[in-house]
Amino acid sequence: MTGWTARDVPDQRGRVVIVTGANSGLGAEATRVLAGARAKVIMACRDPGKARAMADTVDGDTEVRRLDLADLSSVRRFADDLDTEVDVLINNAGVIAAPKGSTADGFEQNIGINHLGPFALTGLLVNRVRNRVVTVYSGLHMLGRIRDDLNWERRRHQRWLAYAQSKLANVLFAHELQRRLAAAGRGTVSVAAHPGLAATEGQRRDASLQGKLLAGGPAQSPEMGALPVLYAASAPGIVGGTCVGPDGFMQRSGYPTVVRPSRASRDAALAAGLWERSELLTGVRYAMEPTR
Ligand SMILES: NC(=O)c1ccc[n+]([C@@H]2O[C@H](COP(=O)([O-])OP(=O)(O)OC[C@H]3O[C@@H](n4cnc5c(N)ncnc54)[C@H](OP(=O)(O)O)[C@@H]3O)[C@@H](O)[C@H]2O)c1
Repeated sequence: MTGWTARDVPDQRGRVVIVTGANSGLGAEATRVLAGARAKVIMACRDPGKARAMADTVDGDTEVRRLDLADLSSVRRFADDLDTEVDVLINNAGVIAAPKGSTADGFEQNIGINHLGPFALTGLLVNRVRNRVVTVYSGLHMLGRIRDDLNWERRRHQRWLAYAQSKLANVLFAHELQRRLAAAGRGTVSVAAHPGLAATEGQRRDASLQGKLLAGGPAQSPEMGALPVLYAASAPGIVGGTCVGPDGFMQRSGYPTVVRPSRASRDAALAAGLWERSELLTGVRYAMEPTR
């Protein structure tokens, strides 16, 4: 798989792909490549103006729809209004180490936007996604712990640890989703991908010393960073539960390869517990139907 590039994305004619956070960074890059390969890309973005400006630069079939992952009523509206089945859902949108603050539903922002919003979105669409769900995580999931105090209500907020918790939640979610899809007899698979370190708006926004230390070196281009996501979204026959990341030193940069996430992220009991809490917090219960 090493050396795999955007040119290796198979013809996407006839496929419909949802990309969340498609107006910026990795989401914009994935949109450009998938639309260029003839997919229809539904750009699910919180600011339709920004998304349309981005769509105008894309050579291919795109449609902008509003989705604010920081507001479950927006997530429900997006799902209710969606008038098509989709082949691939790419849960890409996210905030990187957002400061203390709450979503519309009172969740801490990192866990709310990066995990609970996408959890609800995927649950509401699960029987309409035919092929695969891709969840974008980060190498920083390694520093994450799923806390009893998921929303940082009882301790001093530490934004990088809150981010790491949310990215660990992404991998636990991707694995638990795969187990549940398989148990329900759905043909859809769940996979996860991380970009290494990529110079996107989100990555550049953080000028703190802590952010620079955690980054640990220069970032690769968004084009390179998007490759693991594109591989996870388009490589034929990918096995459910696979994690994809860059093949370079410490998975910071390089071409897509299958990677092994942290031990905690492979803990099935932890994943099942997080799933239950996520259903309770969002009010979205997954009711999967077998693929006919
Ligand atoms: N760049 C890296 O080095 C790196 C490393 C590891 C993981 N990641 C992951 O990669 C993903 C994409 O990040 P990026 O680097 O491409 O950053 P980015 O350029 O900031 O893009 C993030 C996207 O998410 C959207 N978003 C943020 N909050 C949202 C909300 N409440 N509802 C809907 N959309 C929302 C943003 O919309 P606006 O433009 O409106 O803000 C933007 O489109 C994230 O999940 C991030 O954790 C990135």
